[in-house]
Amino acid sequence: MSPSNDVAYLPILSFMSFMSFMVRFLTWKRRLRSRAMRWLRPAAVRGNPRYPRLARTSQNVEESVPWAVCWSPVSNRSIAGRWSAMNILVELRKRFAAALAPLVDDTAELVQMVRRSQDARFGDYQANCAMPLAKQLKKPPRDVAAQILASLDVDDLCQPPEIAGPGFINLRIKDDWLAVKLNVAVTDPRLGVAVADDPRTFVIDYSSVNVAKPMHVGHIRSTVIGDSLYRTLKFLGHRVIGDNHLGDWGTQFGMIIYGYRHFANEAAYREQPVEELARGYRTVNALVSYHTGRQQAEVLRKQLADDQAAVERQAAVANTGDAKADKQAAKALRELQSAADKTQSEVQSVLGKLSEVENDPQLAPLIDQHPDIAEAVLAETAKLHEGDADNLRLWREFLPACLEEIDDIYRRLGVTFDHTLGESFYHDRLAKVVEDLKQSGIATDSDGAVCVFLPGETAPMIVRKKDGAFLYATTDLATIQYRMDEWQPNAILYVVDHRQSMHFSHLFAAARLWGYRDVELTHVSFGTVLGENGRPFVTRAGDTVGLRGLLDEAVRRALKIVTENDEAKPDGPELTAEQRRRVAEVVGVAALKYADLSHNRTSDYVFSYDKMLATGGNTATYMQYAYARVQNIFARGGVDIESLRSSGARIELTEPEERALAIELLRFPEALELMVEDYRPNQLTSYLFDQVANRYSSFYEKCPVLKADNPQQRDSRLLLCDLTARTLQLGLELLGIETIEKM
Ligand code: ARG
Repeated sequence: MSPSNDVAYLPILSFMSFMSFMVRFLTWKRRLRSRAMRWLRPAAVRGNPRYPRLARTSQNVEESVPWAVCWSPVSNRSIAGRWSAMNILVELRKRFAAALAPLVDDTAELVQMVRRSQDARFGDYQANCAMPLAKQLKKPPRDVAAQILASLDVDDLCQPPEIAGPGFINLRIKDDWLAVKLNVAVTDPRLGVAVADDPRTFVIDYSSVNVAKPMHVGHIRSTVIGDSLYRTLKFLGHRVIGDNHLGDWGTQFGMIIYGYRHFANEAAYREQPVEELARGYRTVNALVSYHTGRQQAEVLRKQLADDQAAVERQAAVANTGDAKADKQAAKALRELQSAADKTQSEVQSVLGKLSEVENDPQLAPLIDQHPDIAEAVLAETAKLHEGDADNLRLWREFLPACLEEIDDIYRRLGVTFDHTLGESFYHDRLAKVVEDLKQSGIATDSDGAVCVFLPGETAPMIVRKKDGAFLYATTDLATIQYRMDEWQPNAILYVVDHRQSMHFSHLFAAARLWGYRDVELTHVSFGTVLGENGRPFVTRAGDTVGLRGLLDEAVRRALKIVTENDEAKPDGPELTAEQRRRVAEVVGVAALKYADLSHNRTSDYVFSYDKMLATGGNTATYMQYAYARVQNIFARGGVDIESLRSSGARIELTEPEERALAIELLRFPEALELMVEDYRPNQLTSYLFDQVANRYSSFYEKCPVLKADNPQQRDSRLLLCDLTARTLQLGLELLGIETIEKM
């Protein structure tokens, strides 16, 4: 911008800064007001007032995690201090931004091209920005690289950078610099991870199970991925609100109510309410599927008759003698035949499912007794939503039992929420939401229903059905409104199955139309858990697999591994039966969680106990052993590691394996950034495994610790071991995985 331009822009600039001040001021005021409101309301209202028993108040991770005390934004400054923060990549990018600024207007994209090197032979980091910049400047890339280096100030941090190949800049961090930073980390509870300069507010919608049936394997993903994001974002200094958007109000309650009224055994219900309700639910579900299957079979049969008629018609077409026309006719026949075959196999599959029910001695007699069960279930749900006293009473009676069941699983998984505002919480707001959408011209009446027509979408999003019923989408819009009013988040993350991606893209588009434009709305989607046969994981009977059973089995197998391992110890077993049991619970639960987290969330993965509990490879079990082995070194050497940390003993890097481990330990902040960048916990698991645990193994093989050459070297190596263990522990903690001192 030239000076004369500068002057011309002055009024605009001052207007803009005034506006930005006003926006900040208003946001601050709104926040303050909403905070005040929150504290003025009675605690029970903060939970879901509809819930009869469990008016759940906020549960914070801070209550349970040891590092919480040291990472609140205030205490961080006083204890560890910002000065100790080190994110090498961020630092390097800052330096590159400064060096690039005289050459281009916008350095942002180029700066992103500074990355860690894939191959250690080319240094620790690599900058590939000279090539694209050379194109812009129309100069040879190596010259541009040299030009960048001329103004790049990294002397304190790196050895003299090298230009390689067509213009790559290779950077190698100085060993002294690494050592200095490591020695700071030795006494830093945050291990050098900075608290966000510009903290954002995140609402995370996770777990969000439909409570009418026991949790199954499909629920593990949202629960553990959401929990790990919650922990990590919070650790990075953001304000994070965990909200379990329970499905506590949907059709499944109509099913349970119907099931209870018609199929429940009173004694069994009193003994084990959830199991009995679930049994009723399964019966209702099977019968509903049966009757809809019958209708579907009818439709398919007609379709098949049409398909076959079309095949016959085509087959009757006589040859014309024209090779091209005959070839086309043959092709048409083949296509019609294959369509008919497809319909045939669909008919077969539907009939197969029908006959399963017909041959089931318990279900068969019920088929004719409940011909209109599908409609009846919908009617029960509708009655509940209209406030029918009986159905509301049953709902109030069933809900606590359902919640207790899932709470028990959450306890075992070590997962907590700040809020549990299920769908029922929003029911009273839905009519108002629809009115609001209509008034602002976003929703319109269409055939008696109320719809939002979204730009670029053929099908509209229905927010109220003809019969007056509201939908899942309506509740989600009300939820967005509530969250925005209540917490003013910068981002709302929905950790939900990929099959709902269409729902979320419509929801987000509607929310934007409604005026929520400045909030990041992200569907953190994930794939399916598969059985060993590569198909969705179900029991032999075709039911989904209960989560409780999976946890029990994982713990049972973990106990076997822990026991064998303990018995194989050179100096004899170390653990009591009770200790083994406790270790097995931690190991089993962790194995299941870690297996989920370590897969790229968008892919499906195969559920395998053997793989998840393997003591070698990228598993929780391996990582937990790695951690415990380090503790074992301290025990064997009679080392009081806490005193050593504060003794002034220093880490010195002499062997290549020490250095290789050291730089990875200092890359912990980078791994966390990578994880939250696109909400992928597997970025952290692979860092912990590929970088930390593996480098540690090589280090431990090459560098004697307790038998080091001299006391300084021994202390230095003990501190490296300690930093490794603490990185593993903190990293695992952020994933929601516990470590154990002795296994
Ligand atoms: N209860 C829903 C289900 O099990 C998931 C809810 C996800 N969260 C949301 N705000 N829609 O399919």
